[in-house]
Amino acid sequence: MKKLNVAILGCGTVGGGTYDILLKNHDIIQERTGADIRVTRILDIRHREDIPDELYTEDINDIYNDADIDCVVETLGGIEPSTSFMLGAMKAGKHVISANKAAIANSWQELNKTADENGVKFLFEASVGGGIPVLTAIRGQLSCNNFLEVMGIVNGTTNYILTKMTEEGASYDDVLKDAQEKGFAEKDPTADVDGIDAANKLSILIALLFGKYVAPMDIPRCGIRHITQLDIGEAEMKGEKIKLIAHAVLNPDGTVKCSVKPEGIPKTHPLAGVSNEFNAVYVVGDMVGETMFYGKGAGALPTGAAIVGDIISLVK
Ligand code: HSE
Repeated sequence: MKKLNVAILGCGTVGGGTYDILLKNHDIIQERTGADIRVTRILDIRHREDIPDELYTEDINDIYNDADIDCVVETLGGIEPSTSFMLGAMKAGKHVISANKAAIANSWQELNKTADENGVKFLFEASVGGGIPVLTAIRGQLSCNNFLEVMGIVNGTTNYILTKMTEEGASYDDVLKDAQEKGFAEKDPTADVDGIDAANKLSILIALLFGKYVAPMDIPRCGIRHITQLDIGEAEMKGEKIKLIAHAVLNPDGTVKCSVKPEGIPKTHPLAGVSNEFNAVYVVGDMVGETMFYGKGAGALPTGAAIVGDIISLVK
């Protein structure tokens, strides 16, 4: 029986979801992969009552120096120490899987180069669209295409706010409070509502689709703070819905035009039907034509499922 030992850095919402899936669906995963996959170490200062205490450490060196750990799952969030920990794990010969769009987008080249130099895999399906397997499709099944365009609703918080403003006539401030109470929006929702989170995700999509790295800070960006009922009414009159769109197009000269901004989407477009906290990524390839990937872009189990999907592909 093959074995794969996993360490989780940060056992909060997403790391905890990953732990729960690996435990709850252990047998079906083993049946399908022929591998016994176990979490053998967790880096966190907070201990969950249902997780054995001996799995926990607060010292990253315990993970770097543990020769039995094959794969490190990074779900700490934030840019540091996450980036340093991922680079350290790669240099220690461990495969790395991450959901951390900010860290990945901001250190794209260094993370991929370090993984290559150390002969380990770096996988990050969970970083864009949570549980939606769009990156795997782009890198795999769709890879015969020249990609022409991507339009993504890749931030659940802003999609929830715009949906409630559109469907219920609610004000921006009231819906933001509601989104925070429901746990979609962060206490400090700046990265969501100002489009920073969507720009991080678009940077990753551009790198995979067009083979070009555009740093998140170089993506022209406008959030949704200024959107009013007047804007929503004007869009309605034109048969459109306002959505925060992460948009990139390949120009005929090979350059990429990109932006994150509120756009009026015709109600006939498949993205117009993507409501509440759901995400969708619409991708156009020269051979396949239009495709759209839809699902839950956040949350413990959807995002954890994407991480476990990456672990399974490592095993395979
Ligand atoms: N804050 C993010 C969102 C979480 O609202 O989509 C998932 O990346």
